[in-house]
Amino acid sequence: MIIALNNKCNLLMPEFESYQKELTSLNFKSSKLILCPTSSYLPLYNLDNIDLGSQNVSKDEMGAHTGEIAASQLASLNVRYCIVGHSERRQELSESAKDINLKIKNLLAKNIVPILCVGETKEQRETNNTEQVIAEQVKIAVTDLTEEEKSKIIVAYEPIWSIGTGLIPTIAEIDNVLLLIKEIFPQSKTLYGGSANDENIEYLKTSKLIDGYLLGGLSLKIKKLQRFIDKIEN
Ligand code: 13P
Repeated sequence: MIIALNNKCNLLMPEFESYQKELTSLNFKSSKLILCPTSSYLPLYNLDNIDLGSQNVSKDEMGAHTGEIAASQLASLNVRYCIVGHSERRQELSESAKDINLKIKNLLAKNIVPILCVGETKEQRETNNTEQVIAEQVKIAVTDLTEEEKSKIIVAYEPIWSIGTGLIPTIAEIDNVLLLIKEIFPQSKTLYGGSANDENIEYLKTSKLIDGYLLGGLSLKIKKLQRFIDKIEN
């Protein structure tokens, strides 16, 4: 199972340093862990058994783009994965589907694995538009990509109404969406994200289509994260 830790915009620098030390005490065997810290902490990464991911990348290459980080710069920091299209960025920063497509292309050109996030709002689910919304998000994101390039992308289904709320979809609802994603990305790993924790993992684990999890809040709680991993692995 892939377990990607999205720290979002959390932790002060000294806190990040002790957090990273705590991560070295995590016990896991079959899981693959990916740490996505706040961008400023990327150069502080010093873990052996956990890969480094970024929470964002620029849609442009290096140059006059104040405040951005280019894919080539991420590569120079040993970043192996990068979250793209998180709903918080789509909503708060008006990141468009076209931008997301450009970001994916930049990452693939530098051999960084994109973790593409897709998900519907509460209203879209209630009006039975979930599948249409996800299909659209995915199709635009992969415009002009070859089948081989598509196969390198990890896709994370993160229902917006589930992020940070404690609410999770039913397994049938998750599997419906993951099935749709797997039709478009037959070879890609599919993650679930949104209020996944050490209590609901027993239930989430019953899905046959979830290849891993993208964790927000839980990524910062090491003891609970350890319980989460133990329940996945045993
Ligand atoms: P929570 O796990 O805090 O709901 O966040 C999920 C998420 O947005 C991960 O990218």
